[in-house]
Amino acid sequence: MSTGTESSSAAAGLRGVVAAQSAIGDVNGEQGILIYQGYNIHDLAEHSTFEEVIYLLWNGRLPNRAELDEHTARLRRNYEAPQQVIDLMKQYPKESDPMDVLRTAVSSLDLYDAKGQGTDRDAAVGAAVRITGQIGHIAAAWDRIRNGKEVIAPDQNLSIAENFLYMLRGEKADADEARMFDIALILHADHELNASTFTTRVVAGTLADMYGCVTAGIAALAGPLHGGANTNVMKMLIEIGDPAKIDAWIDQALAEKRKIMGIGHAVYKTEDPRATWLRKFSKQMADKKGEQKWYDMSQAIEKAMLEKKGMYPNVDFYSASTYYLMGIPLDIYTPIFAVSRISGWTGHILEQYANNKLIRPRAEYIGARDLKYTPIAER
Ligand code: COA
Repeated sequence: MSTGTESSSAAAGLRGVVAAQSAIGDVNGEQGILIYQGYNIHDLAEHSTFEEVIYLLWNGRLPNRAELDEHTARLRRNYEAPQQVIDLMKQYPKESDPMDVLRTAVSSLDLYDAKGQGTDRDAAVGAAVRITGQIGHIAAAWDRIRNGKEVIAPDQNLSIAENFLYMLRGEKADADEARMFDIALILHADHELNASTFTTRVVAGTLADMYGCVTAGIAALAGPLHGGANTNVMKMLIEIGDPAKIDAWIDQALAEKRKIMGIGHAVYKTEDPRATWLRKFSKQMADKKGEQKWYDMSQAIEKAMLEKKGMYPNVDFYSASTYYLMGIPLDIYTPIFAVSRISGWTGHILEQYANNKLIRPRAEYIGARDLKYTPIAER
């Protein structure tokens, strides 16, 4: 009989387990290299756009000019979420968490998409275009609705990055900020079998539709150990408040075995290549706003964690102070992650559908066996 005390043969958290074959992205945790479909993230951040990266993730190759134009136009035609979904959001409790709202509203998109349920390539790409186009409208609309402001309709002349900032803040971003945000979307687009992407593939493996898969992905992303970390980084910076308090704060957190948000990674054992860009953006925003405090504090925490634990910042660490100085509300950071990661999720779902096998692993049973049922009156 299993006692539950013997050592497990299953890797905790499935660390190091290869659970799928994929051509979409790869993380080299030792060397800190991230690639999408063969292209280094630094190259894409330098030269590409988020729209082009979406094409790459869905099609496995870079588009030519005509293909990119057609793909971009198709996304733009699908920027606007159904009015019924926005109207429904107006009924939600105003204090609702934006990730709960995003999950619920994206799930409800399914009800207004007569053609979104197929899992063949054409139907699934159609649904992917609509969700990817509309998710920014939903995420931005919620912040307006909860603050009693008019929902801003998407502008088809703007890129996904420009449009999101416009719909959220009510004014168009300048070119530098729009490009910075576009790169941030590129950096968050895919990350191999992270928890939310794995979730979408498990759901896709049952041949559930694109909306069901993405809804599950949003649920997984919301957790503080995954996409929710960026919001918590900013909360931590605000809580510490004073650069002079950093060392003592970290020592106490570590003594209490609390995790420092935005630090550490399940795969990277060196600098996360996305953090390299976001550190630069955090500094760029600090200079632009003339407010160095959050960048300086982040640098000090990064240094302390490297010295004390040999740990590096991940993607969420510097995105927090970057978004903060862009005037984005703290709890919208994780929805922004979803606005980007939708591209990787949908890419993985398309890949799963194209060569599907139900994902059904086994558990190592550690419970009791052969117990004899006792009638309730005798217990
Ligand atoms: N702060 C302090 N200690 C940390 C830490 C952090 N952010 N991340 C990991 N550790 C420590 C753990 O306490 C553990 O120490 P122990 O061996 O003394 O118990 C050890 O490092 C291994 O931690 P574990 O959680 O098992 O590693 P993991 O590979 O599962 O961690 C994360 C990956 C991302 C879940 C983890 O680093 C974390 O929780 N980070 C903060 C949340 C975050 O930023 N998430 C976004 C990820 S992109």
